[in-house]
Amino acid sequence: MINIFEPNVGDGSVELLSDVFKSNWLGRGTYVNEFETLLAQTLKTDKKNIHTIACCTDAIFGVFDIYDLPPNSEVLVPSISFPAVGSAIIAARLIPKIIDIDLSTGNVNFDAVEKHLSKKTSAIFVTHYGGIPVDIQKLRSIVGPEVLIFEDAACAFGTSVDGVACGTEGDFGCWSFDAMKLLTCGEGGAFFISDQARMLKAKEHFYLGLPSQTKSGIDRQATDSRWWEYQLNSPGRRSIFTNINAAIGLPQFSLLEDSLLRRKKIRDAYTETLNKLGIAYLKQDQNNVSYSNYFFTLRTDKRDNLAQYLKDNGVYSTFRYYPLHLIDLFKANASECKVAMSFSETALNIPIHHGMSDDDVSKVCQSLVNFFGGGV
Ligand SMILES: Cc1ncc(COP(=O)(O)O)c(C=O)c1O
Repeated sequence: MINIFEPNVGDGSVELLSDVFKSNWLGRGTYVNEFETLLAQTLKTDKKNIHTIACCTDAIFGVFDIYDLPPNSEVLVPSISFPAVGSAIIAARLIPKIIDIDLSTGNVNFDAVEKHLSKKTSAIFVTHYGGIPVDIQKLRSIVGPEVLIFEDAACAFGTSVDGVACGTEGDFGCWSFDAMKLLTCGEGGAFFISDQARMLKAKEHFYLGLPSQTKSGIDRQATDSRWWEYQLNSPGRRSIFTNINAAIGLPQFSLLEDSLLRRKKIRDAYTETLNKLGIAYLKQDQNNVSYSNYFFTLRTDKRDNLAQYLKDNGVYSTFRYYPLHLIDLFKANASECKVAMSFSETALNIPIHHGMSDDDVSKVCQSLVNFFGGGV
């Protein structure tokens, strides 16, 4: 079966992992520091604006603890979002106001933002669908300076607009380094916050609420007679990106450019095939954008049959993400989401990952030709 996503971890990670084991420091340490340095360089932001944690989902939940939004205020969220976004809004006792998307990108629809923006809106949580960027500057001009913009850039690591990395333009952005991502650390996540007071609060939040200026017990034992005593600044959780995660991910930074080029080549093969067949797909035609190509999404009325046909022929496909407005937990505050509905009935994500061989790509293309050209 050709997988839709696949990790691509080289020997460099095995060697670094072995170093970590020998170092006897498996937790957060020097390898994490090096990872954050390279991450900041890749995202073209200051290292002080980013922080790594256990996973992107933790960041999605944590952001609501870091920004205390007015109770019962509304957070606008496009229906095609990772489910944790809806859950995190509810868990924070806020109202997820689910709005429609744009058929050409899978991203939030700006007319819907304008329509549903109100005095009750405290934030908007957008997703850069499969690495296609939301225009954050335009979004800011619509929502104004008071409404917070949170960016789910989990799939947009590698996407930049005019050289500005996706996830670094709003008030908060987050990325995932889980097992299937462009850069994988097994598990892992990172977030961006430029406001340094908030960043300090975030770091404390993700480390039990311990004051981040406090030295560790080991460091304090030299000067304090009771080095095990502490106070907490806030209720906090523990979400740690470790040297083990960092060692898996570090060698992949130098491969990033090649990985992105490979994905672009796969995309080109798909678009050539689909253009000949007259089948629609999400366009990525902005010259000022470098795309992560994390998803390749086509659209057809025969979507379910195509998915079954591909599966029968050894090609896995899927659809991300089941619309929030159809999930019972969230639907109470959904607006009419006609486009998201149509998208979720017609869109299919087909395999795209930099480990795919030319034969794999040809097989997917041939399967598409056989299905559509052969009138299956
Ligand atoms: C858009 C999006 N956001 C968030 C996440 C969560 O990332 P993590 O697995 O690191 O928690 C994912 C995971 O696939 C995702 O696709």
